[in-house]
Amino acid sequence: MLNCIEIDKSCSFTESSVKDTSYISHNYYTYPARFIPQLASRLINAYTKNGDIVADNFMGSGTTILESIVNQRVAIGTDINELAFLVAKVKTTPIPSVKLFQEFLILENDLKNIFFEKREIYLQKSFSKYSLHEKINYWFKPEQKENLSILLSRILEIENLEIKNFFLVSFSQILKTCSIWLQKSIKPTRDLNKKNSDVLVTFLQNSKKMIQKNDSLNKILSSEVIKNIEKYRILACQDARNIPCENEKVNLIVTSPPYVTSYEYADLHQLPLYWLGYLTELSQYRKKFIGSSYKVREDVPLKSVLANEIVKNLGENKKSREVRNYFSDMLETFVEMHRILKPKAKCCIVIGDTEFNGVKISNAEGVY
Ligand SMILES: C[S@@+](CC[C@H](N)C(=O)[O-])C[C@H]1O[C@@H](n2cnc3c(N)ncnc32)[C@H](O)[C@@H]1O
Repeated sequence: MLNCIEIDKSCSFTESSVKDTSYISHNYYTYPARFIPQLASRLINAYTKNGDIVADNFMGSGTTILESIVNQRVAIGTDINELAFLVAKVKTTPIPSVKLFQEFLILENDLKNIFFEKREIYLQKSFSKYSLHEKINYWFKPEQKENLSILLSRILEIENLEIKNFFLVSFSQILKTCSIWLQKSIKPTRDLNKKNSDVLVTFLQNSKKMIQKNDSLNKILSSEVIKNIEKYRILACQDARNIPCENEKVNLIVTSPPYVTSYEYADLHQLPLYWLGYLTELSQYRKKFIGSSYKVREDVPLKSVLANEIVKNLGENKKSREVRNYFSDMLETFVEMHRILKPKAKCCIVIGDTEFNGVKISNAEGVY
């Protein structure tokens, strides 16, 4: 059992509005279970100083990474999800405002031209191997698929990588709205009566909002960080048990791992993952996510008395094997976090409990 300290209610940030938690580039992409940036910022400011190293090995959309560079700390982040990696990189890449706006005007002009005048010619070259994936037919009506396919092909023609990635995130962000995914559902559910959103209008509107946010990012980051962004931000699309960092270098970890019997991250991000070509087989892709119910691992012994008790209470079934896997995977990630932390450095892990068939699953306490 862990020693508990008194709950500090101010850490819930109940007073913060959506606007507060979406400032600068934080909500370029609607990422499930995204951190409240104010929490990351508070911990970073309380426990580190300028130039210190902060890590998040389950970085998701990169909230900790962004708050670290805003506060002039060096950030190290990993996530197993290619989309998370792309979003975290774009959110922490300030693009010179004028350059981005000029590129946007060129793109807007071209897209209007292509959509309304050169549509037929462009369509012939625009179906990439990804837009032909059968699941894209499942999630998108033919007209939406055609328009998205044209849009993606044009974005992929942008030569500057930072600008191309910026618009790929904007493209990813509009996919749910432009699909028949049941609005606001966290389970992949189709809504065959869903009204189509106009692909071009939605994309241009969303990109304009992101451009404004890029402006605020440029204003908030120090010139030192902007000039040396690659030194201040080390990101990798890899497993949380393989952080690109030497032993005992990190001053603080602020992270929020997946919970078991909760989100299936692969399922939730499948629309952009299919379109951007990161995903071909969902059943295989799910297995690399810790906490996924699709992850199969040989039965592993658990050290923790509480974890063994939870697994026993769940009975002999698939769910108990899933929870066993989870605790054992998570213990390995804790060992990795311990490896990179300086002696006596702090580590903040944001995690909640879940429940299955009336059995309480203490996600945090069960790991030890
Ligand atoms: C709760 S989310 C993190 C959200 C993040 N704090 C944010 O603000 O966006 C948990 C993350 O763990 C990632 N994840 C799951 N299994 C992983 C693994 N084996 N290695 C690294 N990341 C993994 C998921 O892709 C997801 O992004």
